[in-house]
Amino acid sequence: MAATQRIIDFLATRRPEGPCLVLDLDIVADNFRAFRRALPDSAIFYAVKANPAPEILRLLATMGSNFDCASVAEIEMALDAGATPARISFGNTIKKERDVARAHALGVSLFAVDCEEEVEKVARAAPGARVFCRVLTDGEGAEWPLSRKFGCVPAMAIDVLAHAHDLGLTATGVSFHVGSQQINTEAWDSALSDAAFVFNTLAERGIVLTLVNMGGGFPTRYLKDVPSAEAYGRSIFAALKRHFGNRIPETIIEPGRGMVGDAGVIKAEVVLVSKKSAEDDKRWVFLDIGKFGGLAETMDEAIRYPIVTKRDGDRMEPCVLAGPTCDSADVLYEKKPYPLPISLTVGDEVLIEGTGAYTTTYSAVAFNGFEPLRSYVI
Ligand SMILES: Cc1ncc(COP(=O)(O)O)c(C=O)c1O
Repeated sequence: MAATQRIIDFLATRRPEGPCLVLDLDIVADNFRAFRRALPDSAIFYAVKANPAPEILRLLATMGSNFDCASVAEIEMALDAGATPARISFGNTIKKERDVARAHALGVSLFAVDCEEEVEKVARAAPGARVFCRVLTDGEGAEWPLSRKFGCVPAMAIDVLAHAHDLGLTATGVSFHVGSQQINTEAWDSALSDAAFVFNTLAERGIVLTLVNMGGGFPTRYLKDVPSAEAYGRSIFAALKRHFGNRIPETIIEPGRGMVGDAGVIKAEVVLVSKKSAEDDKRWVFLDIGKFGGLAETMDEAIRYPIVTKRDGDRMEPCVLAGPTCDSADVLYEKKPYPLPISLTVGDEVLIEGTGAYTTTYSAVAFNGFEPLRSYVI
């Protein structure tokens, strides 16, 4: 999604100094409605980590969203935005016991776990709470995979949930995340098959699960087209039918990137254009924003943002694109150089599109004295 007219007008009239994110709430509202249409029977839990700007949380709370929170701080932000505790899930599988206790004291009663040790923390600090167990996925098809760190194999999820049941918790269901920026609409199928296996095995032991948390993964359009929310909805619903038949459980989705990614544009500036030798065939273009200023997802060149300049009609040539800090890791695109106009020069403004998700929060520390990424939500 290119910069909206509202974003273009904001930049033209306000002319903010330095790099900044400008995010259009109308797009967030459109995305929320698209998810609701695509999966009308699933509750939407916005993944706050994608962009916790209070204006976004307030809008989504008003529209009826629930919230997936990774920490007590995010839970407090969701509550401040108007969400009730019943609309909040503590979705991080790695929590301090005292944070579980704080969440419980705030009224939150839904927690993610992926091992028996975490179940024991929840049983001690949030007695009687509902827990869902995250299962591993392979992240295949995702441009920003989340595999390995979170979840356990389905056979272990059975023991984890049975343990929760034995400790007086409500073993409520199974969760998974198919990897962020998931391009394959069929990626939910094998995770739903695993979820059905856990449901059926526990039912034989008299433990009735009711919830499948199908996570995030819904993409933002960067340089390539991506399937619509509707296409994901169709494919996910077909997989639910395939694996659960007529007994489709309660379901949740937790979109982060797909909710806010295309609502934001970062305005940045060219600081330097140079070469390393007279014979060098590639320019280095340095921006006033880089990996440490909010573009962390360019790590391993995973996410390739669309970049728009006023000189885009001129001849384009690949360049190495880098950030402004004195850290050699602060290079955005080098393995696969980025085509930019040959006429691009110091002081030129560039618009980095699709940057509404996973940018401001990654730049919370003023590394090298560069201020954290400013954000304007309009
Ligand atoms: C538990 C959980 N849910 C949802 C999300 C959001 O994922 P996405 O931005 O791919 O929609 C994440 C992202 O890390 C997550 O960890």
